[in-house]
Amino acid sequence: MSGTEKYLEAINRCIDEVILLKEPVNLYEPIKYIVSLGGKRVRPTLTLMTCDVLKKEYDQAIYASLALELFHNFSLIHDDIMDNAPLRRGKPTVHEKWDLNTGILSGDAMLILAYQLFEHYPPDLFKELAMLFSKTALEVCEGQQYDIDFETNEQVSLEDYLKMIEYKTAVLLGAAMKMGAIIAEESDQCKNDFYDFGRNLGIAFQLQDDYLDAFGDMSSFGKQIGGDIISNKKTFLYLMALQKGDQNQQMKLMELYSSTSFDPKKKVKDVLTIFNDTGVESAILQEIQHYTKKAFDHLESVPISDDDKAHFYNFGEKLMIRKD
Ligand code: IPE
Ligand code: IPE
Ligand code: MG
Ligand code: MG
Ligand code: MG
Repeated sequence: MSGTEKYLEAINRCIDEVILLKEPVNLYEPIKYIVSLGGKRVRPTLTLMTCDVLKKEYDQAIYASLALELFHNFSLIHDDIMDNAPLRRGKPTVHEKWDLNTGILSGDAMLILAYQLFEHYPPDLFKELAMLFSKTALEVCEGQQYDIDFETNEQVSLEDYLKMIEYKTAVLLGAAMKMGAIIAEESDQCKNDFYDFGRNLGIAFQLQDDYLDAFGDMSSFGKQIGGDIISNKKTFLYLMALQKGDQNQQMKLMELYSSTSFDPKKKVKDVLTIFNDTGVESAILQEIQHYTKKAFDHLESVPISDDDKAHFYNFGEKLMIRKD
């Protein structure tokens, strides 16, 4: 992503400073492992970018940005346990490479490490950042619980789904941007505009993730393709296919999503056939555009130059067409 390299460098430097391989190795090695596998670093980049354009040294936001990346990586370790996922960033997931207990405890430690990073800030900033972090982290847990509950709920609406992804994913992107504005000591209005930009971008981001889970390529996506289908996730694709399909397709889809006894490969193939026949691919791509555009609307009134706004438009547009 052009123009964001300086942020990535700063984040990676800070990771080397904070994530140490020490005793007991079985606690810290998985932490180092998952964080070193990389990923896009979207959340910390957004924090640094926001602080930077608001004319504050972006280095001042580095610890907050890393807190978000650690929290995100913690949530991935636990999410992979909950989703029974074999692959993450093209490599075995922590619970596959080690075991379940290791994934649970290393994840817990990462959450604590994340909190600890706010201790770098003076009391007033510490309080504001920690309060936003706690609120957001709890919402992520709520979103994750809805996601799991929906696997076995046949009455999930599009509205339910949108609320679920707002909580499990989008609020963290909102908080990432708001933290940049908090550290830049901006007005409440400005903090909230950035929050809403990030939140809507986050909804588009999760929709894109759901799209790639069905239609992506494993070598670039780095995760198992069809994982959401295997776990009966009630994604936008599933809900739209139910809406657009004829009676036959609806019945077939509901049947495929109500049993766990199908051969996974065949199930993915059959569901993808229905997704293709009902044309839900173009519907989700439109929805991704809709939320990205909605995010951009929140940028209109923020007190930054048009050039600086262009960085965010650019970033949002790249997220929309990403393959990973
Ligand atoms: C994956 O997040 C989980 C979602 C919220 C979709 P990312 O797509 O940001 O994962 P990495 O950090 O780049 O691997
Ligand atoms: C995960 O959503 C959101 C969080 C980790 C909180 P997904 O389950 O879709 O994320 P991936 O696809 O496994 O990265
Ligand atoms: Mg998952
Ligand atoms: Mg999940
Ligand atoms: Mg996913």
